[in-house]
Order: sequence, then structure tokens, then C-alpha cells
Amino acid sequence: MGLLIRNGEIVAVGSRVKGDVYAENETVTRIGKNLEAPPGTEIIDATGKFVFPGFIDPHVHIYLPFMATFAKDTHETASVAALIGGTTTYIEMCCPNRTDDALAGYELWKSKADGASACDYAFHMAVTKFGEETESQLREIVADGTSSFKIFLAYKNFFGVDDGEMYQTLTLAKKLGVIVTAHCENAELVARLQAQLIGEGKTGPEWHEPSRPESVEAEGTGRFAAFLENTGATGYVVHLSCERALNAALAAKERGVRLSVEAVLPHLLLDKSFAERPGIEGMKHVMSPPLRAKHNQDVLWNALARGLVDTVGTDHCPFDVEQKLLGTDAFTNIPNGIPGIEDRVNLLYSFGVQKGRIDLDRFVNIASTRAAKLFGLFPRKGTIEVGGDADLVVFDPGYRGIISVKTQHVNNDYNGFEGMAIAGRPSVVTVRGKVQVRDGEFVGERGRGRLLKREPAYF
Ligand code: URP
Ligand code: ZN
Ligand code: ZN
Repeated sequence: MGLLIRNGEIVAVGSRVKGDVYAENETVTRIGKNLEAPPGTEIIDATGKFVFPGFIDPHVHIYLPFMATFAKDTHETASVAALIGGTTTYIEMCCPNRTDDALAGYELWKSKADGASACDYAFHMAVTKFGEETESQLREIVADGTSSFKIFLAYKNFFGVDDGEMYQTLTLAKKLGVIVTAHCENAELVARLQAQLIGEGKTGPEWHEPSRPESVEAEGTGRFAAFLENTGATGYVVHLSCERALNAALAAKERGVRLSVEAVLPHLLLDKSFAERPGIEGMKHVMSPPLRAKHNQDVLWNALARGLVDTVGTDHCPFDVEQKLLGTDAFTNIPNGIPGIEDRVNLLYSFGVQKGRIDLDRFVNIASTRAAKLFGLFPRKGTIEVGGDADLVVFDPGYRGIISVKTQHVNNDYNGFEGMAIAGRPSVVTVRGKVQVRDGEFVGERGRGRLLKREPAYF
């Protein structure tokens, strides 16, 4: 059965037209005005609404064994939450740790998503050690269609790689044409500062930020960039949080280093005072890199508006209150992370477009198109054009609502953005031509999501 979305304002990067979109057999087959539709076509009236390409979250954690526990979502819960929020594709970090076998980890992560996700998905393959077998294993994973890696310069002895391993990973990535995403904090400095603070009896969540100050992130970002520069690899800094790290990234870009930058929602909307709240309220806002001094928010928004930051993801990583309380005696044991997959698009629209910080074109670019281009999904995803997947978001800018744990679909017992007002939300969301969401309700087919195979592109 065909699907016709009528009379909406169709927005893609570089174009904004009123008209209709027709989809058949999972793809967009016609775009125009007053399109005819065969009998039996499902018709959606988008008058007064935007029609956006399905949004892409380039950085989520769903299955995640981390800090003595597991993140709370499954692909069943996370994908429904994602779709309700307008995200039709997410890229999950596949994160076996240093003692795990990479290939076995990759198969495990795939098995968790297979038949479970209601939206399409892909993986960034984390390289958490570089041993004898790593090159052949990574070649196999890339041949399977996973053409991006992830390295952590933080999380010493768990996910973290040393400089030698980073060099080997980037050298191989360059050969294979794979982009490398990186969490950029200096692991040694974090470990030393954590030990010092705990030794001084500074155990509450308010000490998390001082244990990984801006200089620690700026060093990691600058070092990653220097390694890219000297290997010729292409990189992407995940969840960049502050001005000093941004300056390190921009300086590298000016030198010609092939580097892109991701911001995540918490750093755009929350500041470190949230993590300084006493007890569990502070713990809920412990993530890495940490929430920063407020002035960094304007820096990041301005960089987004000017195209200096490429994408906005979430680093969706839900741990519930009971799990956060593992860090009652020491902030170093608070599982790092905050959920966000459901709220990213609405918050970005409300606090970005509605407040005049970014225009509609930038919004679509940073929430969808740019990620599709960087990670080998374009033009199948990330735009609206004939031949592309019919992942479409009919977005109602007239909707008004409040973010709340009471109404969320993420599997968690708090929402870090609780009480924030949103101005606009998706009213219809489709995945490859099938309506999956209507007015905040999942109405579609669970398990519809497919693993997206991606070709290497960065030789
Ligand atoms: O605090 C965070 N970001 N938790 C998830 C792991 C990571 O660093 O991405
Ligand atoms: Zn990270
Ligand atoms: Zn992450």
C-alpha cells in the first residue's frame, strides 16, 4: 500500500517547498504538488506542518555493560522512544571491553538488536584494545557493513586505548576507509584527579566535573587530532562539551585535519549546577565529559549555527536511580550517562529553532543529514528525495508540551530534562513508508528495524 503525505512544508538541506510526498515499496517515489494516489493509499494531511527527513541519532548506548551494571534500555524500548521523538535511525556504540573478544562482542551486540528494533540502526565498532587478531577481526566487521570505529581515550583499563593502540587503530582505519569516532579525555589525568579528590574526602557528584576539567578534554581532543594528522585518518569527536576542546578541534581543522565534531543535548541545555545538586539529584546528571560551566552552552550553540559543530546526538545512556546510587559513597562509582533519545529532536527544535539559535536548514542538517553523510547513509537516509528510504517526520510546530518522566517511553525512572517546555513534536513518523508513530503513540510494527550496511568512504 502506498503512502501520501499531502500539503506539508517539505524541508531538506538547501530546500523548502510546499507539496506532497508519495512513498511505495519502502522508498520515496514521487515529490510534487497535488499528487494523485491510487485507491487504497494511506493519506496523511500535513497542512501547517513540516515534513522532515527521518532524524538520525549518531551516538547512543542501548546494550551497555558499564561501571558494574547495564544500561536500562533494550532495543524494544529505545527504538519506540526514539521513533516517538522523531528519530528513525540510530547508531549504537558496540562496546566490548578490553578483556572481551571483539568479534564475539560484535555478534552479541547485533543479536541484541536483531528483530527487536522498531527503527533502522547501525553500529560504531569500538576498538578497546589492539592485539594480534584485531586487524583481521576489524576487517571482517567492516566487510559486514560496519564502517565506523569508536575509540575511548578515557576509561582506563576498561574501554580506554593507549596512544599506541590509537595509532594502530587510525592507521588501519585509513587503510580501510573507515571514520574513527573518539571520546576525548585524558585517562591518566582523570584517574589521578579522581584519586586525589576521593583521598581528600570529596566524594559527592559535584566533584565529578573537577575530576575531568576542560583541560583534560582539550588535551584529549588535541591529541586525537594530532594522531589523525599524522596517520591521515578521518575522525569525529563525540560529545564535545566545552570551549577549550572546541578550540583544539577547530585549530586542527584549520590545519587541514579531517575532523568532525558532535555535540550532545545535555551539554547544550544543562550546566554543571545540575550535577552539583545534593545526592541523587546530582547523580542523575553525572556523565562524561561532565556538564560544564554555563558559558560553554552559548559557545556550542554558536558553533552549531556557524557549521563548526557538525551533528547533535544524545549519548543516550540510561541508568536508573538505583544504579546511580551505586555511587553514594564515591562519585567515581556513579554510572556515567543520561537518557535523551526520545527528547533530542523536540528539544533541539524548541531550544534551537524556536529560540532563534539555529535556522531550520541547520536543524535538519545537524539532526539528520550531516550524520547520514559522515557515516555512509546518504542519500538513502538523511534527506527526502526520490529513491531514498521513506523515513519521514511530519512535525507539528504548534504542539506544546512538557518533558516528564511520567510520559516518557525510555526505560528509566527519571528524565534529566524534566520540566522543560517543548514547542513542537512529530505528529506522524514513518520508517520505510510505514507509519510507526501518531501523535506521541507508537502504532507500528515492532521489530521492523533493519541493520544498515555501510560502505567505507575515507581512504
Ligand atoms: O557518560 C557517558 N557518556 N556515558 C556513556 C559512555 C560514554 O562515554 O559514551
Ligand atoms: Zn563517551
Ligand atoms: Zn557514548
